[in-house]
Amino acid sequence: MGSAVDLSVNLGAFSLANPVLAASGTFGYGLEFAPFVDLNRLGGFCAKGLSLKPRLGNPAPRVVETASGMLNSIGLENVGFERFRDEKLPHLQMVSCRVVCNFFGDTVHEYEEMARALSTLERVDALEMNISCPNVEEGGVQFSSDPKTVEKVVAATRRATGKFLIVKLSPNVTDITVTARAAEAAGADALSLVNTCVGMVLDAETGKPYLGNANGTGGLSGPAIKPIALNMVYQTAQVVGIPIFGIGGIRTAEDAVEYMMAGASAVQVGTANYFDPRVTMKIIDGLKEWCVAHGVARIESICGRAWKERNDQGI
Ligand SMILES: Cc1cc2nc3c(=O)[nH]c(=O)nc-3n(C[C@H](O)[C@H](O)[C@H](O)COP(=O)(O)O)c2cc1C
Repeated sequence: MGSAVDLSVNLGAFSLANPVLAASGTFGYGLEFAPFVDLNRLGGFCAKGLSLKPRLGNPAPRVVETASGMLNSIGLENVGFERFRDEKLPHLQMVSCRVVCNFFGDTVHEYEEMARALSTLERVDALEMNISCPNVEEGGVQFSSDPKTVEKVVAATRRATGKFLIVKLSPNVTDITVTARAAEAAGADALSLVNTCVGMVLDAETGKPYLGNANGTGGLSGPAIKPIALNMVYQTAQVVGIPIFGIGGIRTAEDAVEYMMAGASAVQVGTANYFDPRVTMKIIDGLKEWCVAHGVARIESICGRAWKERNDQGI
């Protein structure tokens, strides 16, 4: 049955050979991982978040290890749209996996401009908008923290692109189903759940935050956030009609299975790429083995099993 296992998944207009992607910011522009990973075997990868102009990011230190995770304050450093188009993308023409461009802006207008620019790139299969960033027109409050702002920025971006549009949500909200519904209503084709959780590490000697950015906070990622993110996927998948990419602490095939059972159609692997650059390949192989061991012919069939069975039983 090994070769008979079908790992392909369909997310509406976006299909994937398998449900495993690398998450944005942990996989460079894809090429950096080519020595370790056969990029053609991935379902796809999300490139580092892009802005129209290059950004240097925050001062060091920008990364610190935590119990079962890491905290980062990279500050969205990236090469900018033009260098991505001219220096990175040409190398990806030979790669067959899906290329997802993650992007962000400081204003609604910048999101629109970025979506329009990325839409001109044929090799880019989908756009993923990171709305976990400060809205400079609203005093620096994150776009993703308020459903009205989510609706506004997603609707404007939707009008600017015909590409498959994924909206990546922040877990730093009271109820993620509210922002998820707002993104869906504004025209998102899919959701990515979730980005990092805000946190802080203090240095007990100096009494100061370890990270070098102005407010000393960073984004927590890795296995530490998995139960939080999994619950958010579980809750959201039951109230939206669009597909979900599950993200947060995935490092094994079983982790990916849990996310799919919670309702994700596909998963993204982030921090685990740092402690094992080959981890995505291992997860794909592991998913195949898991399907064989559990008599699952099509991986898609497990999507939402966790709550579908409970709902059917009226629990
Ligand atoms: C160093 C680092 C940089 C990141 N950069 C981005 C980014 O540019 N855009 C984005 O949407 N998410 C970014 N993320 C968030 C990840 O894509 C992912 O949502 C998060 O880390 C949770 O997944 P994980 O626990 O598997 O790492 C970054 C994460 C890390 C650790």
